[in-house]
Amino acid sequence: MTESLPAKHPNSSGIQRLAVLTSGGDAPGMNAAIRAVVRTASFEGLEVLGVRRGFSGLHRGEMKLLGPRDVANTIQRGGTILLTARSATWRTPEGRAAGARHLREQGVGGLIVIGGDGSFHGAHLLEQEHGIRVIGVPGTIDNDLYGTDHTIGYFTAVETALDAVDKLRDTGASHERIFVIEVMGRHAGHIALDVAVAGGAEEVFIPEDARPIGDVVQVVKDSVAKGKLGSIVIVAEGFPGGAQGVADAIQAGTGLETRVSILGHIQRGGTPVSSDRILASRLGEAAVYALMDGVSGVMVGRQGGNIIQTPLHETWEKRKDVNRDLYRCAKTLSV
Ligand code: F6P
Repeated sequence: MTESLPAKHPNSSGIQRLAVLTSGGDAPGMNAAIRAVVRTASFEGLEVLGVRRGFSGLHRGEMKLLGPRDVANTIQRGGTILLTARSATWRTPEGRAAGARHLREQGVGGLIVIGGDGSFHGAHLLEQEHGIRVIGVPGTIDNDLYGTDHTIGYFTAVETALDAVDKLRDTGASHERIFVIEVMGRHAGHIALDVAVAGGAEEVFIPEDARPIGDVVQVVKDSVAKGKLGSIVIVAEGFPGGAQGVADAIQAGTGLETRVSILGHIQRGGTPVSSDRILASRLGEAAVYALMDGVSGVMVGRQGGNIIQTPLHETWEKRKDVNRDLYRCAKTLSV
């Protein structure tokens, strides 16, 4: 068998050097995305500067060249080797001007930003105010960006939360207790709905659906009447009142022994599962090709198996709805 490398991508923008950073909350698979950017660029004969500490580091000019060996042994690692931050300085015009100056001084023809909607706002402003080419890569466990079926880190976060739910179920059933489990999602219930169905929960509360917290009382009473040993209720952190509010309602309405478990940042760590690594690899590659094509101001995403591009502002202005069928499914299966 003759091995042949893929054909080189046309470099119509003439870009020679690009930069990459991770920003906002970290997500498992960010390293796989950085690796994909660096290796795609290397394959195409381009240089990559890795910016440390997101936009915080960019306004201070913290960057260094990354070659293909610098990203060896990173595809399986959680967190981000470039470090990340939420930058207050980047929200100021002066901070962004300093960042643009550093990029120009270093001969950078385009910046790839791996992060969520806050990071894309920052990238959008850099492009609007200073004409720097930017491409977004969706990296957040919340899966709350329009323009991609999934975001990098989401699949791993669901697995991590599910593993915790399975363990809490063991102890919950042994004590015949109600467990109210809070998963991450400031504004979105994607993790909560997936975990509710996969974890066999009796009830789920998400920020997209502000229904009365008291709904849970009847659900719990019914599950006791059906002879269930314990009940699992999943609450997304963005639901008003959170897990504690739901637990208080259960305690007040049923008098049953209830425990709260807030899973928190554990959901952001750990080895990325294969789906996150593959998504990150494809989107990192697509981001470099977008810059070579002269594209700017878009996020690369994957929809129905295809790589697509969405204007950055649409990723936060348009809303990706949760899969509401999962509600029904969770209910039907908890009979
Ligand atoms: O953006 C992802 C996310 O995990 C949210 O669900 C959560 O509210 C937030 O990050 C918390 O991030 P931090 O503690 O880093 O500010």
